[in-house]
Amino acid sequence: MSKNFTVLRVDASARKERSLSRALADRFEGEWRARWPDDVLLRRDVGAAPPPAVSEAWIGAAFTPRTERSLEQQRLLALSDTLIAELRAADLLVIAAPMYNYGMPAALKAWVDQVVRVDETFSFDLGRGDWPLEPILEGKSLVLLTSSGEFGFAPGGPRAGMDHLTPHLRTVSRYFGVGEIHRCAIEYQEFGDERHRRSVAAAQADVVRLVEELSERRLSSAA
Ligand SMILES: Cc1cc2nc3c(=O)[nH]c(=O)nc-3n(C[C@H](O)[C@H](O)[C@H](O)COP(=O)(O)O)c2cc1C
Repeated sequence: MSKNFTVLRVDASARKERSLSRALADRFEGEWRARWPDDVLLRRDVGAAPPPAVSEAWIGAAFTPRTERSLEQQRLLALSDTLIAELRAADLLVIAAPMYNYGMPAALKAWVDQVVRVDETFSFDLGRGDWPLEPILEGKSLVLLTSSGEFGFAPGGPRAGMDHLTPHLRTVSRYFGVGEIHRCAIEYQEFGDERHRRSVAAAQADVVRLVEELSERRLSSAA
């Protein structure tokens, strides 16, 4: 029996109130639910409950073969196992992330470090030469919903080259099994002016269009 289509929503803002990235994810979730009420929705709020940073003992446990792990090592990897199971189940991954200090929030990076794990989400083989890492998962789509206080991070913009949020997630998402990425972005939050209001409205409209596009594609691939 085929499993239900599964969406994993990961929220990374430390703010619960007035978070723009969460508001975009709420819009995405609402539009998606309206079209696909039977989908499974998993939520992982790393902004509210950041996973721990990996430690020397955690790394030792991750690189110990599964059958040889002590109970303590199994305990150390328990959260990672849960987070990886959520990722594995997901057909569509929605990450709502603020820009903090030109990159991703530490809580989101901690999640990345917990899920990108040898023999779980990537394999490592020096027989592959200079590119020994290969993803194990595949076929997922990533929707990245971001918010930043400043603006102009796109190529040609005044802050081109200063965005280390989207390029980092783009690079590492290969090990989430992501094959395609879609992004809707809010800018100008710190200015609180008309440009910001326009940016919020445009990003919300982008989210609605994206849900339409992904839904139409899903319908036509099922036909
Ligand atoms: C700790 C922190 C660091 C931030 N660093 C940046 C930054 O480097 N560049 C930027 O454009 N905005 C920065 N901002 C502004 C946030 O990106 C902006 O407020 C965004 O809307 C936060 O997302 P949220 O509304 O979902 O909480 C920072 C905000 C905080 C709280």
